[in-house]
Amino acid sequence: MSTTRVQSKATAPEIVGSGSEAAESAPRRVHVVTFGCQMNKYDSLLAEGRFRRAGYATTDRMEDADVVLFNTCSVREHAEERTFSWLGELKRVKAERPDLVVGVMGCMAQRVGEEIFSRAGHVDLVAGTRQFASLPALVGDVLAARNAGDRARVVALGMDDDLAVDRAGEPWAGGSHAWLTVMRGCDLNCTYCIVPSVRGRVLSYPIDHLVREARGYVEQGARAITLLGQTVNSYGEDVPAPSAGERRWSGRQGRPGLADLLRELQQVDGLARIRMITAHPSYVTEALAEAIRDCDKVERFLPLPAQSGSDAMLRAMKRGYTVDLYRRRMEMLRARVPDIELASDWIVGFPGESDADFDASEAFLAEQAFAVNYVFKYSPRPGTGAAERLADDVPEEIKKERNQRLLRASERSGLQRNSAHVGATRRVLVDGLSDRGEGVVLGRTEHGLAISLKGEADLVGRIVEVRVESASAYGLTGTLQTYPQD
Ligand code: 5AD
Ligand code: SF4
Repeated sequence: MSTTRVQSKATAPEIVGSGSEAAESAPRRVHVVTFGCQMNKYDSLLAEGRFRRAGYATTDRMEDADVVLFNTCSVREHAEERTFSWLGELKRVKAERPDLVVGVMGCMAQRVGEEIFSRAGHVDLVAGTRQFASLPALVGDVLAARNAGDRARVVALGMDDDLAVDRAGEPWAGGSHAWLTVMRGCDLNCTYCIVPSVRGRVLSYPIDHLVREARGYVEQGARAITLLGQTVNSYGEDVPAPSAGERRWSGRQGRPGLADLLRELQQVDGLARIRMITAHPSYVTEALAEAIRDCDKVERFLPLPAQSGSDAMLRAMKRGYTVDLYRRRMEMLRARVPDIELASDWIVGFPGESDADFDASEAFLAEQAFAVNYVFKYSPRPGTGAAERLADDVPEEIKKERNQRLLRASERSGLQRNSAHVGATRRVLVDGLSDRGEGVVLGRTEHGLAISLKGEADLVGRIVEVRVESASAYGLTGTLQTYPQD
């Protein structure tokens, strides 16, 4: 159920978008500013698609837009503060152009709701994380109220479950890479995390729907697809298991999982690479490991955030595993895919984190030799278990120091992992041109590692064989061995 409300404040009439012929014939233009994670990037494209279908044009220039939407993040306080400062910038523009519609959507909109109006009075619309299909109608509500002489403020925070917006055939961001959201929401309850409350319960899209969407992107030129989900490998956990009768007639033995989706996408002609973010250690199954092993389009790279290397912290975070359980899952995974590269997120300065707890994270990062690491200083999020029950007791100075130390550990580990590829020939999907200079292209190896090499624009979107020549903590450089394979 959506909960759209139109709050009216009696103010001087503002007649918008009506009157001149030109205004009626030219399509309104929408511009979306995206903060946060890749899923937000996908949602922004989804929103733009809804506007185009409603007769709008999209524009890359905020100055040209009639509607500016901010797709926001809530994961750390800093992300919200940045959005508010951007919104502040828009206040001046709105003062000059009162006809502009300013909307805030996504995670921060869901979390803060109509309080956004009190910090940013020039905002017209606040729409939550499951409202993109309704966005054009919500903007329509703002305009209709204005035309009737009201200053409208529209809030829509409903958690609608029917989110199967069919994007097949719609343009995406272009280039050789496309995002594909396979599931939304999160049913876990990590105590630091705002995501379950702002993104709602898990909702997996059906495999045939996803394969159709993937085919649509490939037909338009995408070569790589990144599967997105807050816990992407819990894909399908929300789908009821088939009954005994259904098992007999459909042959379907259990609920669909990410492994099944990977195997289906492996069959999509023209698709060269499948990536996925972000996985959760608790859902690393043998079926998933075997699908990665068997499907050569699937990158041998898995983001599997450990968050901490201390059992006491993992328990306080309610991550659902111990260090040893994580270790054993990785042994199972590496037994099937020995060359898999792993990435991790880490939180430093979680409430109660002692020197010994932090040392354990540093040691675990080195032990598991993560190729890529993202380190975050703990930021209490209102309403989460940790913020409600645990004091944010690690001083900022210590958080900063631990952040630096873990980044250095990450550099050592990244260099070690990257160096192991020097001398090998890897299949590289070239993603684009380097902006550092002419004649250099950037891509990713089949292990998901960033690589640069000499080459021209004709390589973009192709798979090429590249000899790895050197490594740094952050990537590889190589030389082209053979021209495109495909
Ligand atoms: N404080 C700091 N980092 C956080 N993350 C999520 N919530 C918080 C928080 N409250 C980090 C986690 C997660 C990544 C996306 O952001 O490491 O994996
Ligand atoms: Fe930020 Fe998390 Fe929302 Fe992504 S899902 S935008 S990381 S709060």
